[in-house]
Amino acid sequence: MRTHYCGLIDEALVGQTVTLCGWVNTLRLQSHVAFVDLRDHEGIAQVVVERENAAAFAVAGEIGNEYCLRVTGTIRKRLSVNDKLRTGTVELLADNVEILNAAKDLPFALHENPNEDMRMTYRYLDLRRPEMQRMMRTRIKLVQALRRYLDARGFQDIETPILTKATPEGARDYLVPSRVHPGQFYALPQSPQLFKQILMMAGFDRYYQIARCFRDEDLRADRQPEFTQLDLEFAFVEEKDVQDFVEELIRHVFKEVQNVELDASFPRMTWAEAMRRFGSDKPDLRIALELVDVAEALKHVEFKVFAEPANDPAGRIAALRLPDGAVLSRKDIDLLTEYVAKYGAKGLAWIKVEDLAKGRDGINSPVAKFLDDAALEAVLKATGAQSGDIVFLGAGKWKAVTDFMGALRLKVGKDRGLVENSWKPLWVTDFPMFEYDEEEKRFVALHHPFTAPKVDDIDDLRANAASAVSRGYDMVLNGNEIGGGSIRIHRPDMQSTVFDLLGITPEEAELKFGFLLKALKFGAPPHGGLAFGIDRIAALMAGTESIRDVIAFPKTTSAQDLMTDAPSVVSEPQLKELHVRVALTEKAQG
Ligand code: AMO
Ligand code: AMP
Repeated sequence: MRTHYCGLIDEALVGQTVTLCGWVNTLRLQSHVAFVDLRDHEGIAQVVVERENAAAFAVAGEIGNEYCLRVTGTIRKRLSVNDKLRTGTVELLADNVEILNAAKDLPFALHENPNEDMRMTYRYLDLRRPEMQRMMRTRIKLVQALRRYLDARGFQDIETPILTKATPEGARDYLVPSRVHPGQFYALPQSPQLFKQILMMAGFDRYYQIARCFRDEDLRADRQPEFTQLDLEFAFVEEKDVQDFVEELIRHVFKEVQNVELDASFPRMTWAEAMRRFGSDKPDLRIALELVDVAEALKHVEFKVFAEPANDPAGRIAALRLPDGAVLSRKDIDLLTEYVAKYGAKGLAWIKVEDLAKGRDGINSPVAKFLDDAALEAVLKATGAQSGDIVFLGAGKWKAVTDFMGALRLKVGKDRGLVENSWKPLWVTDFPMFEYDEEEKRFVALHHPFTAPKVDDIDDLRANAASAVSRGYDMVLNGNEIGGGSIRIHRPDMQSTVFDLLGITPEEAELKFGFLLKALKFGAPPHGGLAFGIDRIAALMAGTESIRDVIAFPKTTSAQDLMTDAPSVVSEPQLKELHVRVALTEKAQG
């Protein structure tokens, strides 16, 4: 149908007859001439239709934006060059303009920034936008580069089932009813975790898969109910083997896809240090602000807000110094206080240092009156506060303070333009094995229940479960968890112990993971691996905040596909075939 792509015509073609196909990006109709910017996936070409060519000019009079056209004509040099277009030195003088298909009035103008619901409903129009084409291409290049790298290094690409049994990764399962087994369900995989471990037991040594994962969880900008992992597993390895390999892989693809040189060696930080200094297990190291613990200096004060957590082993008082922050208004601070409340803060204390040399007289703070000179001085000293700074103080339970002060650090860092324009990868290691779930009143696995503990000894693990450290690791880039993995448990007795510590009874373990426990008894090798979030890496590379921009057909934040209108009700006969009857709970009926 065509001889060239719109976006690729250039001066080498001057004088030649070419045929282009594409969409009308913009149209300028004048009395003697029509200019059509014709767009395809490579870019835009200017088409000129002169009035002398009566047939073509008549067609030009009929068309509108996003009409699909085929145009044949001669390439010529432009009188006035358009620097903004790759094809800006040439244009196509049309001989023949053919309408391949008309377009109705558009629901939104493609060059404007349409609202999200519109974009999702008319995703095919949204995806036509050059910005979306660019972002999707970044993802495609990333996946190609990952595959090339792994294929060249002996990794075996093996598919694992989609209709399977649930593997817990901490989210709810999507379930699929079985027609042939009435009342029974498959679960869609939250990850290929157990299959890849079993592939190591089956002797494949090095595995990878670009794997779709399904998790029914609360959605955010960086989470989708179905998303894609680069899933990796290695036999006969320890932490460093996996980490060194995947670090090199990430460096390689950033160089190949984005021409970005990441650090020669990613820094490593324990989970405890990350939480202490940054209030996050995925610290954004582009922001130079850090939390400082000041409980020690406030143990003796009378003000209960500080004295209680300062003297509580489960408490925390964290200070955050914001350089030049004394300019913040009461309104600004009120907004920040509201912001941290969403993360569990009961309040946010602050000290503006107007003139450090003047001591107490140079301070503006609603809590200064509760602090004696020693306490005030100690806090200012610990944070390194200077004249013109503000110091925020968060007090309460360790978890809440860590979360809200971590969130505050990011918020003020972004608001005040303190995010360095750079790439800051790191490893976070030494995660706690277990986390106590207050709602369920039991331990839950911080990674997943197949992650090995640092200690080899079962009695030791049992005796010190609450403080046990795992062999898990996350790769973090600019405040995003882009990958997570671990060395796995490869001994059946250890796996049973971990299930037990997680409150999973032997019967339940047998029912859910019997196949794994059995497989571990037939000479399972030590093994470990990791999975990267491809959507997240692609979004970072493409420079977008939302992974929806690098997924062709994403779901909304309420897990809907607005284009196809999924999920939707199904017919009675279909349900009957599946032996399923729908009885909505009162809550669902609203
Ligand atoms: P994990 O649950 O940490 O580990 O997932 C690995 C990576 O996948 C990405 N990710 C997501 N991306 C988009 N939407 C989601 N809902 C979502 N959830 C996770 C993140 C994350 O780092 N089986 C283990 C891996 C292993 O141990 O080898 C696992 O799935 O970038
Ligand atoms: P209140 O005693 O609640 O009136 O609080 C007095 C001051 O302490 C106010 O500036 C509050 O913002 C601050 N404050 C209250 N709770 C906390 C907290 N958990 N952490 C830090 N500051 C707090």
